[in-house]
Amino acid sequence: MRVQDREIVIGKDYEETCGKAADFFRACAARAIGERGKFSAALSGGSTPKRFFEILGAEPFKSAIQWKLVHFFWGDERCVPPDSPDSNYKMAYDLLISKLDVPESNIHRMKGEIDPQKAAAEYEAGLRTFACGGTGAPRLDFILLGMGPDGHTASLFPGTAALEENERLVISHYVEKVRMNRLTFTFPEIDAGRNVVFLVSGSDKAGLVSEILSPGENEARYPAARVRPDGGKLFWFIDAPAAEKIRQS
Ligand code: 6PG
Repeated sequence: MRVQDREIVIGKDYEETCGKAADFFRACAARAIGERGKFSAALSGGSTPKRFFEILGAEPFKSAIQWKLVHFFWGDERCVPPDSPDSNYKMAYDLLISKLDVPESNIHRMKGEIDPQKAAAEYEAGLRTFACGGTGAPRLDFILLGMGPDGHTASLFPGTAALEENERLVISHYVEKVRMNRLTFTFPEIDAGRNVVFLVSGSDKAGLVSEILSPGENEARYPAARVRPDGGKLFWFIDAPAAEKIRQS
């Protein structure tokens, strides 16, 4: 049982929390580029990251980060074309990547428009190539995650077999709850992250956040609670409304 190295950062509201997360992204990028000459970041979908993306794509972050050395990945994607309003890639492109000078070859998009199983296999192979082969799961520098009202994260939903996948790093599966095929990192790839960062906002998630972050809670039933970085660090950036039910003891 790994002792969890976890840090909770609480912002007074959504805006401040996204700003804190953006500054952490900047710091992680500076460290990774200083140590390894590049920075790899997997983005998430949903609505919460929108303001985070907008802040990163504007000053001061637009000038503060060496974007030519940043590689964008996605932790999950809907099986839709890249121009679909449901595409996680499209959301990140429109709000962030289109504002930046990032080489096309640094954008590692999950191909939601092709056969899901082929897309998953291709993406995993691409991850391994990026990591220069190696045997274990590629260690990305920054993995952004959200949390749904049912405790899902990436496209790892409660009650799905995807939660038990411990060989493959990227899988596709049909998710009944959202009635669509999804591509997603599995826990082995998420847990390989150097900095695994939840960004959660809103009082509607306060109960779940409390169950997961309050000491002694039996949180294992929620996928978001099962993220356990192996050698990396776990961060929860949450706003005060989402943090309002966390108990200290
Ligand atoms: C997706 C996301 C998903 C998201 C949560 C939270 O593709 O939908 O990756 O895991 O992070 O559903 O979504 P909200 O930020 O909209 O609450």
